[in-house]
Amino acid sequence: MSDHDEADLRGRVARLSTEQKIRLLTGADFWALYPEPDAGLRRVVLSDGPAGVRGETWDERDTSANVPSPTALAATWDCDRVGAIGRLLAAEARRKGVDVLLAPTVNLHRTPYGGRHFECFSEDPLLTARIGVAYVRGLQSQGVGATVKHFVCNDSETERMSVDVRIDERTLRELYLAPFEAIVREACAWAVMAAYNGVNGSTMTESPLLRAILHDEWGYDGLVMSDWTATRATEAAARAALDLAMPGPAERFGPWGDALLAAVRAGQVDEALIDDKVLRILRLAARVGGLDGAASSSGPISPAPVDIPRQLRATAAASFVLARNERSLLPLDRSGPDGSGLGRVALIGPNAEIARTLGGGSATVYPPYSVSPLDGLRAAGLDVAFAPGTLGHLRTAAARAPWLLRPGGSAAGADVRFFSPSGEVIGSEQRDAAVFRWMNGFAAIGAPEQVDRLEVSCLIQATEAGTYQLGVTGIGRFRLLTDEAVLFDETLTVRKGADVGETLMAPPVRLAPVALAAGQSVTVRLEHDVHTSPMAAFGTFFQLLLEPPHGTDDEEMEAAVALAAGSDVAVVVVGTTAEVESEGFDRTSLALPGRQDELVRKVAAANPRTVVVVNSGAPVLLPWSDQVAAVLLTWFGGQEFGNALADVLLGEAEPGGRLPTTWPASEDGLPSAQPDDGVLTYTEGLFIGYRAFDRDGREPLFPFGCGRGYTTWSYDSITVDCDEANPGALLAPGGTTPQNLPRAGASTPPFPPDPPGKPGIAVCVEVRNTGSRPGREVVQVYASRPDSAVERPVRWLAGFAAVDADPGETVTVGILLPERVFQHWADGGWTLEAGTFTLAAGSSSASLPLTAAVTLK
Ligand code: BGC
Repeated sequence: MSDHDEADLRGRVARLSTEQKIRLLTGADFWALYPEPDAGLRRVVLSDGPAGVRGETWDERDTSANVPSPTALAATWDCDRVGAIGRLLAAEARRKGVDVLLAPTVNLHRTPYGGRHFECFSEDPLLTARIGVAYVRGLQSQGVGATVKHFVCNDSETERMSVDVRIDERTLRELYLAPFEAIVREACAWAVMAAYNGVNGSTMTESPLLRAILHDEWGYDGLVMSDWTATRATEAAARAALDLAMPGPAERFGPWGDALLAAVRAGQVDEALIDDKVLRILRLAARVGGLDGAASSSGPISPAPVDIPRQLRATAAASFVLARNERSLLPLDRSGPDGSGLGRVALIGPNAEIARTLGGGSATVYPPYSVSPLDGLRAAGLDVAFAPGTLGHLRTAAARAPWLLRPGGSAAGADVRFFSPSGEVIGSEQRDAAVFRWMNGFAAIGAPEQVDRLEVSCLIQATEAGTYQLGVTGIGRFRLLTDEAVLFDETLTVRKGADVGETLMAPPVRLAPVALAAGQSVTVRLEHDVHTSPMAAFGTFFQLLLEPPHGTDDEEMEAAVALAAGSDVAVVVVGTTAEVESEGFDRTSLALPGRQDELVRKVAAANPRTVVVVNSGAPVLLPWSDQVAAVLLTWFGGQEFGNALADVLLGEAEPGGRLPTTWPASEDGLPSAQPDDGVLTYTEGLFIGYRAFDRDGREPLFPFGCGRGYTTWSYDSITVDCDEANPGALLAPGGTTPQNLPRAGASTPPFPPDPPGKPGIAVCVEVRNTGSRPGREVVQVYASRPDSAVERPVRWLAGFAAVDADPGETVTVGILLPERVFQHWADGGWTLEAGTFTLAAGSSSASLPLTAAVTLK
């Protein structure tokens, strides 16, 4: 932003009264800031989140492109691809009237128990930083703001609103602050979100870290907003560098509004602080095009059309990590094991039929469609037979087609009618689905307090004879009727002390059996007293549930094993769901829920050609992994999940992913997410993820950075200082752009710039594609420091780059290792321990065939 613009912004602040200024510092509602005509400010809209742009409505009427989970994006190790996802999200934001996205989440994978693990990128600060910078640059290049969150140490969910994280300064700097620093400095993020938790005794919305680090050290000129309802104290938060309390309005949420006005009038809070906050709000608005007459800082927005399905399909495939592939079972050969064609594919598992494309919580979006593994394999023309194998552990899904029909039976969906306290119908909605979430009032009516009761009406039509389970999940009073007979009339309550995330993602379930003949339909009416909902101040939320008839778990398992035994190949899709991995709570076990381990073992025993697809956003235990031919880790793959899966299974696309986080073999030795008396101490210090496994000499199941493609590689040579004077020349000949070099002509330095800083070390690695297919390899370089006087990890990621090569081709890739990679934090500053570091290059943290030494002064 130019000086001229800054003067203009200051002039606009000066035109406002103290009341006008303070009004701007709390949201106008759940998702938007106040407009202020006297400053030329329009309403600026914020929206979650990392896996898609939700917009202001949160249901199937306003769909959003659902991108693969952030763990998947990081697994691509491909900054260009992630930048393109940032641009796709910006296009989505523009389409949905959103100015600022509440993403990316750059907390670290401190422990796999973390409920929002799927929503963060990696356990490694450098990989998180590189992917985060690319994401933010992509988004903001299109004039949509990023909000880097949650600053800082919100790495798990238990007691997230109150927990105090105790952490030493070095660990804070080298691990948890590092991604924020890189993104703020290099990508100039326009907003940062202060977390719910505290760090070393201060809740983050009042933390001295905001001003001391963000403002004073990193020179951050953007806005700091609170996480939703995280602003606690009037004066302390105002004196800290918190600019915006969300959500609003102040009459309902947060401690600012009139209380802050009084504090300013009484001289307890300096008005200059208020002016700076308003300036930052106006600067954000100017950047996103929300101020009259102020140019947005992104420049002209490229109107390039985005082929969303194609991009999401390719990105999902590029994120899948092939962790095991015995006898090269994958890719499946369409000519079949005996050359007579690929016969029947047994598709088995609880995650095969309903696409599990995202984790739970505020990152949830409603995609326009989602392709399940079953849909994807069928669309690829395979002869697929499906058996769920086990279902018992799953929460019942919302009622859906073909069973759910509007009252007239004309289309899938349901009708909703809203009633006033005096019993009058005051509005209605026609809905396509049975998931209801009104969070910002009722779109059809407006203010939530006008609605006393609502009614959902639909038909349920049986496709086969049997017992259907019909019910509801939600909180408050529900009355369910079929053909005017009451099935239940109950008040469902949430666990005392439950976090809002848990309340939203895993509310209680009430089901009732309904016996139906094939083709028979019943009318269904679900009545709900809105004022009994804990969200009554904003609206309410619940789902109408329906589970069609099925066998017992034993019967389902037997049928699946028989199907596998009689098929050419068995593809078992196991995993978690958005109710298992979610904001608001941590996992307490890393085991696959229910009887999925037993199912895999039985299927693998019945068919040696068994591929297990693991559909989870975060690591789960796979105790049978050496008993199956192939293991493909696919994350929560976004709306194109099933198509990408078919592409990779059939070799139309490479499984391009490498693990962004270590997959443990057991739960032994993992950091705990459970606070003790309100305090969570990061006792493991620097040793999370591969740093801990390496130090302890423990073998993980799958190491950080690992993943196979469909070809093989040899690592032939490493050269240090290969072209130090001219790092821009280090672009792989004819290959892809190294991931941690500045782009040609780019003015931003590599990670993390620490002016004045030295340029860093250039390394060239020569690799050869020794297989028979073209492929992509992620070349990784790790640093280590034998004989250090300082406690250090055995090795740490220093840089990486992706290369593409044809069979037999040799490619040299250049990777620039910035000076920061060799520094550590000591005595309040970054320090270089002079001497010799070892650089090791290879395909994962556990496979590093090439080494070289570099001496630094
Ligand atoms: C989450 C944030 C999210 C906000 C708004 C909070 O509960 O922690 O990540 O952006 O809600 O939905």
